[in-house]
Formats: sequence, C-alpha cells, structure tokens
Amino acid sequence: MTIDGSKPIHMGKVRNVYDAGDGKLILESSDRISAFDIVLADTIPYKGQVLNDVSAHHLQLVNRGGVPNHYVTKADDRSMLVYGLAMIPVEVIIRGYLYGSAWDRYKKGGFALPHGTEQRKGAKFPRAVVEFTTKLEASDRPVDINEILRNEWMTADEIDYVINASLRVHKIVEENAAKGGILLADQKLEFGRNINLANVPILGDEVGTPDSSRFWDASLYAENYAVGGDQPSFDKQYVRDYLLHERGWDKQRPKAGTHLTEPLLTPEVVARTTEKYLEAQRRIIAAA
Ligand SMILES: Nc1ncnc2c1ncn2[C@@H]1O[C@H](COP(=O)(O)OP(=O)(O)OP(=O)(O)O)[C@@H](O)[C@H]1O
Ligand SMILES: [Mg+2]
Repeated sequence: MTIDGSKPIHMGKVRNVYDAGDGKLILESSDRISAFDIVLADTIPYKGQVLNDVSAHHLQLVNRGGVPNHYVTKADDRSMLVYGLAMIPVEVIIRGYLYGSAWDRYKKGGFALPHGTEQRKGAKFPRAVVEFTTKLEASDRPVDINEILRNEWMTADEIDYVINASLRVHKIVEENAAKGGILLADQKLEFGRNINLANVPILGDEVGTPDSSRFWDASLYAENYAVGGDQPSFDKQYVRDYLLHERGWDKQRPKAGTHLTEPLLTPEVVARTTEKYLEAQRRIIAAA
C-alpha cells in the first residue's frame, strides 16, 4: 500500500484523500492550515503528524469505548488507512462550555442555555450540548433537526444514534484530555455511511485534534473564567489573532473557501503554532 506518486481523489483544506482499493482510503494530514475557512499559503511544520497521531489515538480509544469508526491502522507518520464512507453532509458540534459562536449567539438571544448554566463566558454546561451545522457550505451554519429531516440528510433514528454516539465520544476525549491537564471545551465530529460495515452511521474524519476540538489549559481556566475572559487554546489561536489584529482581517478578510497564494505569517507565529500543536500532542498521548 503506497500513495507515492498517486493522485489524491480529494484535497480538503487540510487532508489529502487517496483510494487504497478494497473500499478503503488513505487520509493524509498535511501541514496546511486554515483560518476562518480560508486556506493559508503558509504551512505549520509537524502539524500533519500531530493531527494524524492524535486522531489515531482517539479513534482507537473510541473504538474500545464502543463507538465504531473508520479507523483501520496508521499508514505512516502523517497518514492512516480508513474504511471509505459516504459522508453525511452535517457536522456535529458537542459543546461542554458556553464559548465561541455559542457565546456570541447567546448574547444576541440565539442560544438557549441548559438549565443551571451560569450566564458568563466560558461557563461549564451541566451536561454537554449537541448541535448540527452544515458541512457543504463555505462557512458553517447551524441547522436544526427539522431541516436535517426535510433535506433527508439523516433519518430520525440516525439523528438519535449520532447524538448518543457523539456524547459518548465527547466523554472519552474529555476524560483522556483531563489526565494531561487539558479541558475539552467543544469539538466537531463527522459521520458517514457504509452499509457493508454497519447499519448505523460510522464515525469518520478526525477525532480530538487541535483542529477539530477547542482544548484549554485546565490550570488557567478558573482565573480566566472569574473575569469573564478568553481561554487560551492549544490550536491556531495565534494565527487567528495575528490575522485579525496584525493583518487587518478584523476589518476585511478574504471570502470563506479562498486558497491564498502569498504567505502571511511571521516565523514567530509559525513557530509558536507548531509549539502549541506539539504540546497538545504531548499532553494527550502522555495522558493515555
Ligand atoms: N472515512 C471517510 N470516507 C470518506 N471521506 C472521509 C472519511 N473521513 C473523512 N472524510 C472526508 O475527507 C475530507 C478530509 O479533508 P479535510 O479535513 O482537509 O477537509 P475539510 O477542509 O474539512 O473539508 P472539505 O473536504 O469540504 O474541504 C473531508 O471532506 C471529510 O469529510
Ligand atoms: Mg476537515
């Protein structure tokens, strides 16, 4: 099994997908980075290896925890062999805390707080909340269950299954991260279908990586929460902040879906971002 010289059948923002024959695929994680759904020309050294390693780790944990998924085996440092799925065009967001777009929507009256949640940025929900967003549009838009049913993206039974499986995955990733001093604030999951494997949706894509999850440093949480402040996370936050505040993206930025051709990041921003991804990997894998 080799991907040398063969052409990807799909190039996502971050991953290249190759046909491995026999209904299987190779998912190769590149060092590409996207921010606000815009793919930068800059790359982040080691990012692909971190994503592959951390995702493989979680997919195996989750398999043992009873949620069947697409993982077969690691192929090399930045690639894994998976079962091919027909992806469901909906992303699942599991939130443990009131933060990010949920906090923004809450302030505008567009997010219902679970009973017992404190009305403060970064508040922990008494129970994790599951939401859905579109996958095939340039930027993610929340969708409700009625829209999913109406578009026949999932059946009611599939929605039930996906909600329960996602909560289970969230708990497994959360408990593992806690051992490394990391809080799992929220994460995104994707499911697909493969009737040869199971008659329920199969968890696919990446699980518990710094690209798909918002990880916080547990030791800094209480202090930041007390003042209603931001929680630094183990991901591309430096990149986003740099683009917003040093590159003027807070006023104007390229359209979602754009692939940039000119590098924008300073060597310092790149190095700090690599360091954050590597630290997340160290803490998550060492915790196991
Ligand atoms: N087991 C699988 N079978 C088929 N497709 C998969 C599987 N696991 C993940 N995928 C898809 O492979 C792609 C991975 O690439 P990547 O994560 O870079 O994409 P993305 O930028 O998130 O989305 P897009 O592909 O829309 O650009 C995604 O489209 C994802 O849905
Ligand atoms: Mg993706």
